Amino acid sequence: MNDKELVAHHAAQQVKDGMCVGLGTGSTANYFIEQLARRYHEDDLRVTVVASSVVSTRKAGQLGLPLMAIEHLTQLDLYVDGADEVTPDLTLLKGRGADLVREKLLVEASKQFIVLVDSSKFVSRIGERFAIPIEVMPFAWQLVKHKLEAMGATGDLRHTANGDGLVVTSHGSLVLDMTFDSQLTAQTLNELLNNTAGIVEHGIFYGLASSVLCAVNGQVQEQLAGG
Ligand code: A5P
Repeated sequence: MNDKELVAHHAAQQVKDGMCVGLGTGSTANYFIEQLARRYHEDDLRVTVVASSVVSTRKAGQLGLPLMAIEHLTQLDLYVDGADEVTPDLTLLKGRGADLVREKLLVEASKQFIVLVDSSKFVSRIGERFAIPIEVMPFAWQLVKHKLEAMGATGDLRHTANGDGLVVTSHGSLVLDMTFDSQLTAQTLNELLNNTAGIVEHGIFYGLASSVLCAVNGQVQEQLAGG
């Protein structure tokens, strides 16, 4: 097993009979979906799953996991997802896959949020490697961009991989990728973006992770929030 598979396997072992489990998006979350499906079929584990994206919905469906639509969800027992950056206080940067709203909705609906990463994801501050993804209402992008630029941020709308279109989330938002002054703390940025009209959601997950699992030399290491 590679490091991502190892942490995914470890997280799947923590799923208990009868749980409602949120599925993240990305290569590490994919391994978790596979491990959970294996337990569902081989261990007769009873679970219901809710996915954070179209791609994870499709994967879970192909593997035969019983899916619930997010529209019917009131509470989750566990949400498991990857991250793009993790700081020492377990603040996360997420959203390279664009569907931020669903990801944060599932995290906030969940009693427990387990984050699966490899050691490449650890940074000293949020925004060290990536711009902050910011989902905006389509008609608001210019106003939001202008407001953030007035605060010293730089960036632009996210383009599709081939460069000839704009990335649109599954529910129709555009995505701004913005870089901020490195002196701003994650807490300050989180509050700033939470309080800007026209922003649907953003990629800073502040104070939301319950634990982070990372494999080092074949051993899974767990960091607990506040630990
Ligand atoms: C999806 O929007 C992101 O938040 C992912 O969780 C993130 O990109 C992690 O993906 P990998 O596990 O492929 O690194």
